[in-house]
Amino acid sequence: MDKLIIEGGVKLKGEVIISGAKNSVLPIMAATLLTDDACLIKGVPELRDTNTMVKILRSLGKGVEFNKGMVTVATLKNTNYVADYKLVSTMRASFCVLGPLLGKLKKAKVSLPGGCIIGVRPVDLHLKGIKALGAEISIDSGYVLAKAKKLKGTHIYLGGVYGSSVLATDNVMMAAVLASGKTIIEAAACEPEVVDLAEFLNKMGAKISGHGTPTIEIEGVKHLHGATHTIIPDRIEAGTMILTALITKGDIIIKNVLLRHLGALIDKLEEAGVNIIKTDNSIHVSYKRPLKAVNITTLPYPGFPTDMQAQMMSLMCVTPGITIVTEKIYPDRFMHVAELNRMGAHIQREGPHAIVEGIEKLSGAPVMASDLRASASLALAGLAASGKTSISRIYHLERGYENIESKLEKLGAKIWREKE
Ligand code: UD1
Repeated sequence: MDKLIIEGGVKLKGEVIISGAKNSVLPIMAATLLTDDACLIKGVPELRDTNTMVKILRSLGKGVEFNKGMVTVATLKNTNYVADYKLVSTMRASFCVLGPLLGKLKKAKVSLPGGCIIGVRPVDLHLKGIKALGAEISIDSGYVLAKAKKLKGTHIYLGGVYGSSVLATDNVMMAAVLASGKTIIEAAACEPEVVDLAEFLNKMGAKISGHGTPTIEIEGVKHLHGATHTIIPDRIEAGTMILTALITKGDIIIKNVLLRHLGALIDKLEEAGVNIIKTDNSIHVSYKRPLKAVNITTLPYPGFPTDMQAQMMSLMCVTPGITIVTEKIYPDRFMHVAELNRMGAHIQREGPHAIVEGIEKLSGAPVMASDLRASASLALAGLAASGKTSISRIYHLERGYENIESKLEKLGAKIWREKE
């Protein structure tokens, strides 16, 4: 296993290009199971998670090539309907093969993904939606077995205790595209990645409307064909780079971004006193003066993303004043708190809240990555800290940030890898 070493205190400067969105490409790759035709997906980031999805599709009978950001998926043999525990357990998003397998084959056996460090993460909403379409569901030996003679469009309310669910919306939408009649999903997730999936499905011949709003309508079709699609830029990587510029007191131009996907973050940063220069597809962030502490509450899109909470907390650790961070999506997503405190931060956790008292400077320390976004928050903290930070278990970071070390290195960071 590798660890990441960062010598902090360098003001990062230059240009960085954002990769395709991880949370968009994974369900879109799964959607290729809905057709026997070939599909071409462009702008695919080279990540541990995209490689896991390649393995899953291959295990289900697809021929997949992944080269220079392009994924081609073709059908090699009859689609297998069993997604194995060994693969699904390494990545929760692989559960989104359930909807397309059921839609296409009318049967699917997919391992339950289990919880993870950021919370219990149930799949009740996925199963509720799929059941409503007429599938029989049973759970046996850790697998969900779903089967149906035929799927029938219906009205489904998909809201949960913590609001809408991104992957449940994806799964139900993918199961419904080949159902007979009309499906209406209410309380659907509005995340840009859901919209990207719906647009890919429409290119394949689906009839989906309302995506991007809480009510999605799907008019079932008889079959889907192959399609070509380019993945939207990763708004979480873009947000992480904006915060990298600010926490290092640097000056970074971030290219290949869609501003409209970053509204809640940019609004918070403007409240904190940051001046962000925006063009159509780039953002220029330059640190000019000390920021103001701002409170953050994570919410489903278009609210402040839970996937930016940890990184924003790192910035607030070195911003004078008190910040209250409230986590409304994953109330236990605070694994980074103890590690940031090891670097000298003053953070107190109170249930779903963390109270951050900003200090002048963090100090480098050995810390441990616990999940993807927590790792990013530690990297940000390390870049701003005095001295050396070593982050172990960085495979978490590789799940979601393409070429992160070389991107940061090009901006001037002193960052390298060592064996644990
Ligand atoms: C997706 C993202 C993840 C992000 C999360 C929230 C992907 C691959 N991952 O995960 O990066 O952090 O959205 O924006 O897109 N819930 C239920 N029952 C369910 C499903 C979810 O109660 O059946 C709860 C979850 O525990 C959580 C909330 O709903 O509290 C939102 O989760 P959800 O949107 O489903 O997250 P994912 O789609 O798994």
